[in-house]
Amino acid sequence: MSENLLELTDVHLAFPSRRNWFGKVTEQVHALNGLDLTVRRGETLGIVGESGCGKSTLAKLLMGMLRPGSGQLDRSRLPTERAGGGMQMVFQDPLSSLDPRLPVWRIITEPVWIASRPSEKARRALAETLAQQVGVRPEYLDRPPHAFSGGQRQRIAIARALSAQPDIIVLDEPTSALDISVQAQILNLLVTLQQQQNLTYILISHNVSVVRHMSDRVAVMYLGQVVEMGDTADVLGSPAHPYTRLLMESVPRIDTSLGDAPQNTELPGNRHLPTGCYFRERCPWAEPACSEPQPLQPLKDNHAARCWKAEQIIATGGIGLPFSGN
Ligand SMILES: Nc1ncnc2c1ncn2[C@@H]1O[C@H](COP(=O)(O)OP(=O)(O)OP(=O)(O)O)[C@@H](O)[C@H]1O
Ligand SMILES: [Mg+2]
Repeated sequence: MSENLLELTDVHLAFPSRRNWFGKVTEQVHALNGLDLTVRRGETLGIVGESGCGKSTLAKLLMGMLRPGSGQLDRSRLPTERAGGGMQMVFQDPLSSLDPRLPVWRIITEPVWIASRPSEKARRALAETLAQQVGVRPEYLDRPPHAFSGGQRQRIAIARALSAQPDIIVLDEPTSALDISVQAQILNLLVTLQQQQNLTYILISHNVSVVRHMSDRVAVMYLGQVVEMGDTADVLGSPAHPYTRLLMESVPRIDTSLGDAPQNTELPGNRHLPTGCYFRERCPWAEPACSEPQPLQPLKDNHAARCWKAEQIIATGGIGLPFSGN
């Protein structure tokens, strides 16, 4: 089995959303609610789930920008293959994450500058190498980021992430803001770079077809939990959790591609967590037994789902299960 770079166990994280006059927190948004996840070296792990389910919160937690309220986050202690190690992130909207005042060659090499203060000459040379790797013309490197198109800016953001020689790159909706044809170019670039540099990707996307195309494994999130996880062919080919199945069937209630601009919407239950299975109120196959909390159940081949009916759903394709929701 491949080596786990990251392992998250029962991670919880809540944001205070209301305080009383004395500053005491009186209401919280429960963004992550017992999240379990492993990330293996060299893989692309796709993360899907509707807006507000906690994908970006997970990304920020992995990046060390947020701390878990409880639970465990273990990083592999094995020596990394590259100088930098660690993690870098590429955001949906590169303009908001790139300093508008700097020429892009400085932007691209900023992580290296912070880490090791190379000479200006070495820094410039590195910027040119990275530009070449991501398909940005070196003669444009003195321009500011707004002089570039969206796709070019995303290439710049990727170069910046690469400069730190990370083991893992977290890609949060990396192509959602781009035209379809440009999307494909960026995804192809990511695939090439991964092969060349043995990178590990965590790919967050609303777009199930992007995730299917790119990922070795997929984790499906609902209300701050992983409700299904496994090889892409298993999870997207024979989903075991009702939520995944509904995502795949693009039932109108659950959009498989929620458009270009993910917003922080609040899921029902985000403030007052439901008891039992979190999905049960929306689940067409819910039964009284679903009022018990559902653990992530192991199935065949490292496939797992948070549903006691998982085996039955795989076997029947979800067809013919009793409806009790209406
Ligand atoms: N800094 C914050 N303070 C308070 N609530 C927050 C904060 N960041 C996120 N949330 C809430 O936590 C929940 C999860 O948000 P998150 O951004 O992780 O969702 P997401 O899955 O990335 O959604 P999207 O697909 O829209 O990007 C949402 O209800 C969101 O409103
Ligand atoms: Mg997000």
